[in-house]
Amino acid sequence: MTRHFLTGTELSAPELDALIERSAQLKAEPLSSRALAGASVALIFEKPSTRTRLSFEAGVHELGGHALVLRSDDLQLSRGESLRDTALVLSRHVAALGVRTGPDTVLRELVQYASIPVINMLSALHHPCQALADLLTIRETRGTLEGVRLAYIGDGNNVARSLALLGGLAGLDVAVASPEGRSLEADLALPHDARGSLTLYTDPLEAASGADVLYTDVWVSMGEEVDPARLRKELEPYRIDDALLDRAAPGAFALHCLPAHPGEEITAEVLYGDRQRIWDQAENRRHVQKALLELLVGANGCDTR
Ligand code: CP
Ligand code: NVA
Repeated sequence: MTRHFLTGTELSAPELDALIERSAQLKAEPLSSRALAGASVALIFEKPSTRTRLSFEAGVHELGGHALVLRSDDLQLSRGESLRDTALVLSRHVAALGVRTGPDTVLRELVQYASIPVINMLSALHHPCQALADLLTIRETRGTLEGVRLAYIGDGNNVARSLALLGGLAGLDVAVASPEGRSLEADLALPHDARGSLTLYTDPLEAASGADVLYTDVWVSMGEEVDPARLRKELEPYRIDDALLDRAAPGAFALHCLPAHPGEEITAEVLYGDRQRIWDQAENRRHVQKALLELLVGANGCDTR
């Protein structure tokens, strides 16, 4: 059966553990897998990207495959061809499909018709590939994920939601601090086999207090339809700076999915300082996505190793 990766919760807790472990192996030996030898992977971008495009394209190459990077306006999709027909045709040519889009309904419609794995490379609600890289980075630094306290400070967006879901599944205790009206949904349900927890706050100091990891993201996401000036004003108290890191646990470090806006959600001192693992985190996108492609493409019967 074709497996997809839209929210990340398609994985069981043991599968997530194994995927993070495999990512670490692939990081140690980047050219050790030929899982995509002779295969192509299509990557459709309806929104801009630096890290996702780079890491998928380079990662597919390292696995022996070929990446086809397609902007949506390169495709007949932009002239009214249906998602159904696009999925049917792509399935005849490539071993997997990555999609960066707005509405999550686009992804759900594609998986209805695709006979190849569909991977969410960011949607309005989720960014699960980012969360995989975040977990690898935390495990590298702390040696474990179980019981690690992570505080996300900022807009309750796609990145926050994926961290809550996949972090909870992996055993993190996740605190999310956002202003009223920008918080994650109060009834967001963690997967049934989640080993961690999710707690929502409005006070960034309360969330950050005693945390092992502080995490933030841009204040204004791509495609956000609210007034950016108003959002920036609301989020002004939700910044990771040295003072907030001082409130966290000893040895705490900052993460940021990037792109960053130094002076807004994070200070330049933290972004380029010693108390962050942000640049390792950006690199880790490649390693986790290679492990994910191995898992999904292998499960779909296209394992050519
Ligand atoms: N973190 C992330 O997804 O970055 P890009 O938007 O550059 O791909
Ligand atoms: N929340 C951000 C993440 C960018 C990687 C956005 O959706 O624009």
